[in-house]
Amino acid sequence: MRALIAAGGRATRLRPISHTLNKHLLPLANKPMLEYAIIKLVEAGITEIIINVNLGDVEISSRIGDGSRYGAQITYLEQQGGALGIAHAVNNARAYLSGEPFVFYLGDNVMAGSIKTLRHTYESEGYNAMIALARVKDPNRFGVPEFDITGKLVRAHEKPENPSSPFAITGLYFFDDKFFEAFKTMKPSARGEYEITDIITWFIQNARIGTQEITGWWKDTGTPDALLEGNALLLDEMHVSEMKNEGELKPGASIQGKVCIGRGTVIGPEVLVRGPVIIGENCKIDHAYIGPYTSIGDGVLIQGPEIEHSIIMENAKIFCSERITDSIIGAKAAVNSSKNTMPRGHRLVLGDNSLVEL
Ligand code: G1P
Repeated sequence: MRALIAAGGRATRLRPISHTLNKHLLPLANKPMLEYAIIKLVEAGITEIIINVNLGDVEISSRIGDGSRYGAQITYLEQQGGALGIAHAVNNARAYLSGEPFVFYLGDNVMAGSIKTLRHTYESEGYNAMIALARVKDPNRFGVPEFDITGKLVRAHEKPENPSSPFAITGLYFFDDKFFEAFKTMKPSARGEYEITDIITWFIQNARIGTQEITGWWKDTGTPDALLEGNALLLDEMHVSEMKNEGELKPGASIQGKVCIGRGTVIGPEVLVRGPVIIGENCKIDHAYIGPYTSIGDGVLIQGPEIEHSIIMENAKIFCSERITDSIIGAKAAVNSSKNTMPRGHRLVLGDNSLVEL
């Protein structure tokens, strides 16, 4: 079985961070998001992986490589014909996928646990397609399955105003060759996209499709809040044995709970780190509180603040005594104190689509 991971798109809801970094490379617990999809597939015995990228994209292949470091063979495939929806991206990979059942995985989805059992159900039941469902508070943000009173799956709706069930159709799909037969009958939706939910409805009407509920957590990390939640869930899930301390703790520095500190990082006195927290390599942290669910990339310098439930990317500098929560700070960004400036006030140099709450 092969897999296709979707890693294209514009990620408008993650601007400005996604202006300079493809969202699938955004770090979650200090690893590019896309790595989690690759690791899960390899764990389920799926090692031939095709990654769909935007036309001309070289950023993803240069960061992720040929797959050998994950025990996989990765082929990169540029999306032809523009961003016409995720079903179109699958059809774009037809030459690589037809002839055998395959997994389609949206690269911005992260989830707990293994996908082995899903693969097993799909194969042993002999389904033509299978979708993985997750119970969510806001199904209207996703594809939603509709069941009749007998519990039979009857349709799939894309982001319905009035969802007919409490489930989201997650971005993990199993399809066989009939996908390409279905695609031939598709037309773009009102928003101009070939919708995966229309393909699912075709399978409901013309083939055998199964559903399975994902029991652990699942996150589509398409928004800043969801990205932070995904980061927190992954930090929670990290095993204590992965949380090594390879940095230097100065006398008086205090570490509580699950905390991972990279090589070359110096944690100064008067610092309290309360996990789960991951701190990369070659960082310097002084006079600060680093609270739960924070990921700090390599080369970050921090002096003075309290930081909690945040993602701080590589080489950022934070020199202030404020409390920073629920924040995403991009690579090389600087947050300085405004206490000694004349005239007093907050000085902001913000990129397009930035967000600041003062
Ligand atoms: C896409 C699909 C949607 C699915 C979701 C899962 O939506 O169109 O059916 O529920 O992924 O992540 P998007 O996140 O592209 O808006």
